Amino acid sequence: MSSSIDYKPLSLSVGVEVDLDPSKPLSDVERDELGALFDQHHLLLFRGHEHSLEDQRRTVGYIAAPRDNTYITDTMEQTSAGNGELLFHSDLAYSSLPTFGISLYGETVTPDSARTVWANLRRAYLQLPKDLRERLQGKQALHLWENNHAHRRLREEDATDEGTGSVHPVFFKNPRTGEPSVYVSMLATARILGLEAPESDALLEELFSYLYAPDNLYTHQWQLHDLVVWNNVTLHHAREPHFGNAPRVLRRVAFGDTRFRDPRIRYRSADSKALSM
Ligand SMILES: [Fe+2]
Repeated sequence: MSSSIDYKPLSLSVGVEVDLDPSKPLSDVERDELGALFDQHHLLLFRGHEHSLEDQRRTVGYIAAPRDNTYITDTMEQTSAGNGELLFHSDLAYSSLPTFGISLYGETVTPDSARTVWANLRRAYLQLPKDLRERLQGKQALHLWENNHAHRRLREEDATDEGTGSVHPVFFKNPRTGEPSVYVSMLATARILGLEAPESDALLEELFSYLYAPDNLYTHQWQLHDLVVWNNVTLHHAREPHFGNAPRVLRRVAFGDTRFRDPRIRYRSADSKALSM
């Protein structure tokens, strides 16, 4: 693609650093090119520019409408994901409407702040052997959420009435491009429906070997004022463990939605019909 925007790859498989100050208004051509880079590389890094919340919302708005704002911090007394290591996942996969896009801005970070890692779900799909892809075509998977479960994959036996969950296609389509990706995660996917647990576990492990292969990842060391914008249905993200007490305050703005999809079954408890699908 010829482009008027300078950019360079962040890794073999995920993301580009874009040489652009998005706190300044972009031309229509630049907006279109930014959207194309986002669709092709799934993650954009803007480095070296200070951004207000308004700047961040306008920047993600070049891709899709900005939604809620919040902060990811080490000092929160209670977050759903705790503040240590967090396994690979897609935000709100346990709901009927997974978040489409996420941006994080480094307000307070140091070289020792915990790193974030992304995995390319679209690239993993393209690398699956034909027979595995055919075997999983049309299958759905159950995704769960429970408070304070960040370090191991959730199973159906972990489900409580305080948790929740939802069902999505194993091959989830990117609403912007229609392209399918492998949408099962190391943190939240309890089972591929229609299969017994041992068969489902074996298939999930096989899928994880593609998703989380070292060459399918990008690990980001945060710098002050980094703005990272990514597609939450074509990438998983994970947080490495914290070392020491390095502060880390990231301002989060979600954007877009996946409402193009049919409403899915909402999973509530161990006697839910979702379990028997
Ligand atoms: Fe997350």
